[in-house]
Amino acid sequence: MSMVNDMGMEVLVNSDNPEQVLQNMQPFMDLMMNYECALMEIETKLKVLNNEFAMQHNRNPFESIKCRLKKPMSIVGKMKKKGLDITIDNIVENLTDIAGVRVICSFPEDIYAVSELLSKQDDIKVVQVKDYIRNPKSNGYRSLHLIIEVPIFLSKQKKYMKVEVQFRTIAMDFWASLDHKLKYKKDNLKHPEIIAQELKKCADTITAMDYKMQEIRNMLD
Ligand code: GTP
Ligand code: MG
Repeated sequence: MSMVNDMGMEVLVNSDNPEQVLQNMQPFMDLMMNYECALMEIETKLKVLNNEFAMQHNRNPFESIKCRLKKPMSIVGKMKKKGLDITIDNIVENLTDIAGVRVICSFPEDIYAVSELLSKQDDIKVVQVKDYIRNPKSNGYRSLHLIIEVPIFLSKQKKYMKVEVQFRTIAMDFWASLDHKLKYKKDNLKHPEIIAQELKKCADTITAMDYKMQEIRNMLD
């Protein structure tokens, strides 16, 4: 994994005792490798479902999948924010989004179809479901969030790893990326509340469009 290696190189270059640093970092690098394996498992499961669905229904239930591993800096930042010591056990117990998958679907119905098919697989444990589609956030944010555990098979053991899977439509994703920008720029804006209001209106418009498009799709099918 290039990110893990890159991170190792960075610390090594800035260290007086590279061997010691490497030894201390090994458990963390192992952990990140495990999360990366979990990402590969979920990505494959989703691709299999996509292919099967495409064969049966002549269309793909999702447009794209994006996988990401949380950056070491973000892991440290989140642990500090939670007021926790940075240990491997604390990281595993308290962070559920080190491995993140985003599944972008064309239509809202497909989100529930794919997420249910994934959740029902007998090696998957669903830890948490947050349905921000049926219960949108007050700012207008919509997506379906699952925290699941997936087994990875290492040479000497089978380990369950947590993965956060976010399902959203293309329109919801488009909206979320603009909202994300607002979060970062808020402090430098004169009237962030006006932009937030406008964004909220867009969220409602987008939702109406998502369901309208789905209706049309269903009429065409
Ligand atoms: P985090 O500490 O941010 O991970 O939130 P959480 O632990 O309460 O979990 P939640 O399921 O609410 O949110 C997890 C992730 O969903 C975030 O890290 C974002 O990627 C995304 N998300 C949640 N709320 C919003 C939002 O209002 N706007 C945008 N753009 N993304 C959001
Ligand atoms: Mg998060």
